[in-house]
Amino acid sequence: MSLGPEDWWREAVVYQVYPRSFQDTDGDGIGDLEGVIQRLDYLNDGTERSLGIDAIWLSPTFPSPMADFGYDVSDYCGVHPDFGTMETMDRLIAECHRRGIRLLLDWVPNHTSEQHPWFVESRSSRDNPRRDWYIWRDAKPDGSLPNNWRSVFGGPAWTRDETTGQYYLHSFLKEQPDLNWRNPEVEQAMLDTLRYWFDRGIDGFRIDVMGMIIKHPDLADNPLNGDWMPGDRERSSQLWQNNRNFPEVYDAVKRIRAVFDEYPGRMGVGEVFGTAGEVGRYYGDEDGDGLHLAFNFQFIHEREHGLTAWDAGALRRIVAAAEESLPPGAQPCYALGNHDRPRFISRHNADGRGRERARAAAVLLLGLRNTPFVYYGEEIGMEDVDIPEDRLQDPARIRTVGRDPERTPMQWDASPGRGFSEVEPWLPFGEPGCNVADQDSDPESLLSLYRRAVWLRRRTPALLRGGYRELPAPAGVFAWARMLPGEPAIAVAVNTGVDPREVELPGGGEVILATDRSMEGAPVSGRLVLPPLAAAMVRAPRP
Ligand code: GLC
Repeated sequence: MSLGPEDWWREAVVYQVYPRSFQDTDGDGIGDLEGVIQRLDYLNDGTERSLGIDAIWLSPTFPSPMADFGYDVSDYCGVHPDFGTMETMDRLIAECHRRGIRLLLDWVPNHTSEQHPWFVESRSSRDNPRRDWYIWRDAKPDGSLPNNWRSVFGGPAWTRDETTGQYYLHSFLKEQPDLNWRNPEVEQAMLDTLRYWFDRGIDGFRIDVMGMIIKHPDLADNPLNGDWMPGDRERSSQLWQNNRNFPEVYDAVKRIRAVFDEYPGRMGVGEVFGTAGEVGRYYGDEDGDGLHLAFNFQFIHEREHGLTAWDAGALRRIVAAAEESLPPGAQPCYALGNHDRPRFISRHNADGRGRERARAAAVLLLGLRNTPFVYYGEEIGMEDVDIPEDRLQDPARIRTVGRDPERTPMQWDASPGRGFSEVEPWLPFGEPGCNVADQDSDPESLLSLYRRAVWLRRRTPALLRGGYRELPAPAGVFAWARMLPGEPAIAVAVNTGVDPREVELPGGGEVILATDRSMEGAPVSGRLVLPPLAAAMVRAPRP
């Protein structure tokens, strides 16, 4: 099967697989790559019975002591035995490509595992040739830490190493020492790991913590955050100015992009944090010299951006800011969830109507101008699972909220093992009622809505490539149009309120997708009536 044009990612829907939790095939309660292979037909078998996604992003699959479940890599060019072997990975690549699915791995450039051979050498003595591959400093003369930086997971970002008496920097766990990207040898070695996988056929990477690889050259203290209040996250007590989105990081991004360009058709999507402007800069000065895509997490982090959750006005502002902040030709990239944040429904369920909002959110995500990312299980409405104390796994929970609830195994059916595993899984399952098998045959299910939305998008040029224009709408409704010359325009409207609303659509048209399936096919003449929490797409008459 041909994999299509080099800029395939502009039209793609990407599905995030957290490999530990997707499908266990070797009976250890942990998902594996063979399991991903066995479930590929669910993701895209070429027919509308499948989800129809274009690409898979696999969270880290590399050898790792699993201090941070793979985000602590001890060999960038291998496969962790929990997940399979290099042979399984090669087969997964081939099986994906046979179905026209692209495969993205998760590149972790900011830090390695403390067990990576580079760090083992680096920590062995002050004059080891790899000493400078990581960031080592003496304590200040008064014995205090080298600077005031905090770890993302809480606590200081510095740990003293007994062997040499110096401190090393770790922006996350102490088991995850930060690489020194100002050392050109480090950069070369890391860029070579990209080439290694490109040579094996990998189609691209999600890039972990992209914005932190280059720090202030003098590791200057971060200024304190005057707005911080006791009870807020400890890490927010300072402004992450000298270790996140530091201006020189954007130059490193261009050098990374150049490696992608050595291999036509490959794509990089950065995990970045900040304002829309800061996110936009990762695309480069003009489209094509920075990352292909950079995540806009504002639908996930609404509260941190001072917005009310699931509110039309907030959604509109997020999208407007994203659209304004990108270089010409670039397109946004949104997600409703990922392995680091509570699941969508759990975030929007205070009144018990989170499942309705999840339907509208699917229409939002697939209707906007962007490359949408869907987190496994989101398409069936998986919710956070309460994890009993003795089953907790995530080390980050020690100081912040743990991420286990959103990482529980995929629920394929209602059986005791949920179709995921025959044995006790590494994290407990959610309620059996939420599963693929039941939703598969139910045309009203969330899964069926996702399938309809993805396949509709695939065959609707204005949804794939059309521009974005906000439409006038009453309070509580976010509406926009997607337009492509020569093609019927598509209007999308999302009612975030719990009352019905009417949107004026003077050109009229036909409802082609709706959260309430009975609306589909209905003609629209002048105005669209949206039930509470509903969303719909309307195709205008042919131009
Ligand atoms: C990213 C990952 C997160 C991980 C962290 C450190 O934020 O998404 O899961 O813990 O980086 O690598």
